[in-house]
Amino acid sequence: MKVAVGADHAGYRMKDELAVCLKGLGHEIVDFGTHSDAAVDYPDIALGVARAVASGAADRGLLVCGTGIGTCIVANKVKGVRAALCHDTFSARATRQHNDSNVLCLGARVIGPSLAEEILRTWFGAGFDRGERHERRVRRISEIEDDSGPNC
Ligand code: RB5
Repeated sequence: MKVAVGADHAGYRMKDELAVCLKGLGHEIVDFGTHSDAAVDYPDIALGVARAVASGAADRGLLVCGTGIGTCIVANKVKGVRAALCHDTFSARATRQHNDSNVLCLGARVIGPSLAEEILRTWFGAGFDRGERHERRVRRISEIEDDSGPNC
């Protein structure tokens, strides 16, 4: 898969480590930065990654900031993106299976590198549980984004 990765100054070290892991798993990386401790604004980085996923330029996205929250909020503003903040492997698996999430958000100030890698491997290893109820719910998310369908 082609994976768009991005982080702010709080998350770039973890992002770089996880990019190495993703390459080892055979994925191609498109890196939206940042690359140093110099402070940058996470919305701009997150927007680049989210747009890459939404446009199909990338298959998945990975965002890392201090908490993972800021980048997750931004990514979910972009139509077609289902970003999930995960700090445990149960959520990482469940959000792929139930939500078909396409962007993973992590907080480098919340979890350590080993757990982050485990979450990453779990998220990339899990597939969407196709079937009536999960597909219906994900379709409903798209309807809400499009302002279409009943009660929109
Ligand atoms: C940067 O200090 C911090 O606010 C950012 O990394 C992130 O945690 C925002 O949600």
